[in-house]
Amino acid sequence: MTVLASAVDVTGPEHTAHRAVMLGRLAELDAEHAKALAGGGEKYVTRHRGRGKLLARERIELLLDPDTPFLELSPLAAWGSDYPVGASIVTGIGTVEGVECLITANDPTVRGGASNPWTLKKALRANEIAHANRLPVISLVESGGADLPSQKEIFIPGGALFRDLTRLSAAGIPTIAVVFGNSTAGGAYVPGMSDHTIMIKDRSKVFLGGPPLVKMATGEESDDESLGGAEMHARTSGLADHFALDEPDALSQARRIVARLNHRKAHPDPGPAEPPKYAAEELLGIVPEDLKTPFDPREVVARIVDGSDFDEFKPLYGPSLVTGWARLHGYPVGVLANAQGVLFSAESQKAAQFIQLANQRDTPLVFLHNTTGYMVGKEYEQGGIIKHGAMMINAVSNSRVPHLSVLIGASYGAGHYGMCGRAYDPRFLFAWPSAKSAVMGPQQLAGVLSIVARASAAAKGQPYDDEADAGLRAMVEQQIEAESLPMFLSGRLYDDGVIDPRDTRTVLGLCLSAIHTAPVEGARGGFGVFRM
Ligand code: COA
Repeated sequence: MTVLASAVDVTGPEHTAHRAVMLGRLAELDAEHAKALAGGGEKYVTRHRGRGKLLARERIELLLDPDTPFLELSPLAAWGSDYPVGASIVTGIGTVEGVECLITANDPTVRGGASNPWTLKKALRANEIAHANRLPVISLVESGGADLPSQKEIFIPGGALFRDLTRLSAAGIPTIAVVFGNSTAGGAYVPGMSDHTIMIKDRSKVFLGGPPLVKMATGEESDDESLGGAEMHARTSGLADHFALDEPDALSQARRIVARLNHRKAHPDPGPAEPPKYAAEELLGIVPEDLKTPFDPREVVARIVDGSDFDEFKPLYGPSLVTGWARLHGYPVGVLANAQGVLFSAESQKAAQFIQLANQRDTPLVFLHNTTGYMVGKEYEQGGIIKHGAMMINAVSNSRVPHLSVLIGASYGAGHYGMCGRAYDPRFLFAWPSAKSAVMGPQQLAGVLSIVARASAAAKGQPYDDEADAGLRAMVEQQIEAESLPMFLSGRLYDDGVIDPRDTRTVLGLCLSAIHTAPVEGARGGFGVFRM
């Protein structure tokens, strides 16, 4: 009875058209992902291989249990910036000896693996994920340290990287560093602050200052090996706990360390789950190209939850927000999904109540965004839309159950906040290629600017140039549109990745499994004052 019915005609012209647009966007996305995979490009990749070294992703593959998935995070970091796509580091979640771990790997083919401002943001985000979900951290290190030309952006905030490692350790979350090459200066504190370290014969170089710096500072003549080689650190300084003969040996020793961590998940794996009744492929044709055209988010829910089984909460009240209970890969979830875009007072109150229920029941929440924000206008202001929106934002801010957000369509204005946007600390946030997010829609924003400029000219008694206004509006519209797109937002680390809609269930399932490493406990009270 609670299995969702579908009204989608998968052979109809609308579905076909939406699907064609989505496939076009996915092809663009693939091209950007390929840039991250290419690292520093052929020249540097060939040089790296010529030195007998493995690439960052190959190291990860050897570390993981065979044939298990790796959920790569933020692959588009630095997109649209002056730095290469991917930000010279690979981060993600994978399984080592049956333990879900957060793995980071410097990409030494990109400017010596040096850390630029986007590398730092991406690495800090990875630490945040490890901390929130109690995932052991494995750092595969080979980096030229700070990207020196951008040092002013990273030196001071960058200290947080080493702070995080020791705070993870203090929280009982294991940290392991495997050093494949250079780990100089500040980089030396990655092994320095980790619980377990592995260094590789003739490869690892871990020192506060290399031979030229030492010569400058003290006049002492030295060499790489005596300052920071694996043999020295394993036999003399004691910084290396494990001495590996080569890269595969180091990775297999890392696996042995994880096998002995005795790191237990707070919640057991729920076991096999029933797949949805409808094909994931059909998710390509649900979101229209023009986000002003409404679509039923139950069509998305039906294609991601177990057995397409969904117990809707308050279906007749506040219908432009769909709320209900389901399971996803066996994990219980509450779903909040926007329908028709606008959040009114009833929807906001319904959301606040639903979020409180999920907290009482220790049930994680999934937010499917397609909202243009809270309703404006005299009737709605007089009806208390601000206080009702505030209720929803209070509930989402003080909720303690894990939140997963997926931007599938629009995510504008305070609606982005109420639906657990980035600033509201969802455990994970992903976007579909169809998503758009900004303070408001591009046309509306350009229109507001124009009205303000016209009023300002009138107040000064100046004439208003309509032709210039039209040009300005078009320019602003274009700029805001470009800044609302998922690749741009992903480049700035405002999400954890742009995903193929067909992968949504798998990605959310992997996240839910990682999340359940830590105890899932809702807030019993502890909300702020609900303005009634
Ligand atoms: N900041 C900015 N650019 C850097 C960099 C850094 N920290 N480290 C390396 N690069 C650049 C190099 O200038 C080079 O650019 P180019 O190919 O356009 O000339 C590119 O990255 C590759 O470096 P290269 O030295 O050819 O690679 P390598 O693999 O032989 O050596 C290092 C890598 C990291 C050992 C070496 O580059 C190095 O010692 N870098 C400086 C390390 C350091 O002292 N960092 C300060 C930390 S606070």
